[in-house]
Amino acid sequence: MRLVFLGPPGAGKGTQARELAREWGVPHIATGDMLREAVAAGTPLGREARTYMDRGALVPDDVIIRLIGERLRQPDAKGGFILDGFPRTIPQADALSRLLSELGVTLDRVVFFDVSEGELLRRLTGRRSCPQCQATYHVVFNPPKRDGICDRCGSALLQREDDREATVRKRLNVYAEQTAPLLERYRKDGLLTSVAGEGKIDTIHGAIRKAVGA
Ligand code: AP5
Repeated sequence: MRLVFLGPPGAGKGTQARELAREWGVPHIATGDMLREAVAAGTPLGREARTYMDRGALVPDDVIIRLIGERLRQPDAKGGFILDGFPRTIPQADALSRLLSELGVTLDRVVFFDVSEGELLRRLTGRRSCPQCQATYHVVFNPPKRDGICDRCGSALLQREDDREATVRKRLNVYAEQTAPLLERYRKDGLLTSVAGEGKIDTIHGAIRKAVGA
């Protein structure tokens, strides 16, 4: 299973990808998570990425393409993967095509999460994330069992710096300008499948499995 999960910030890509990757035994490759880990570790990549992430801008394509190139060459990605948050620009999509052809594999599907803007704002401003294991919750729609504590690893949950309302609006604009054009490209390639991204998390989970024939 080689999939791309595509959609605006807050569409539920990470929530669904984490569960489905576990179910299918493939890695969940999320560029946002990889960058946040680099930021937390204070690496040169993290220090550079942070200047873009905190203001809701995209990290430069060459940095991201290098990161994904290294990750997709790891042995655990040989049998499949779910890409979450990549590609996000036309140059990134071009780089992915080149990389997959070098590796002698092809994408099976690009799953688009269709969610209205009002719902995205509600989701992102109420999101709480685990800095340790990257699990995500929502104060109303998907709360942890114990207030402010990760169900999975027991760490204290945080609000992401870029989930403040002004930055969320900026991220939605960046999505519309730079990422939404990928929909047309993958539609033309016959790879795009749309899934209704509003409703119960379990219902959406089932819709994705059906859409990709799993
Ligand atoms: P990234 O981490 O990729 O952020 P994003 O795409 O903006 O996506 P999110 O993580 O915000 O949303 P999601 O769709 O995963 O939603 P989630 O499942 O958490 O990127 C962050 C930054 O890193 C970027 O701004 C950029 O700077 C940089 N970056 C990353 N990749 C890059 C790239 N390729 N190129 C350049 N720069 C890059 O759900 C959201 C909330 O909703 C949660 O609270 C969840 O509990 C809740 N929820 C989920 N499903 C439902 C449901 N069905 N009903 C109700 N609530 C739900």
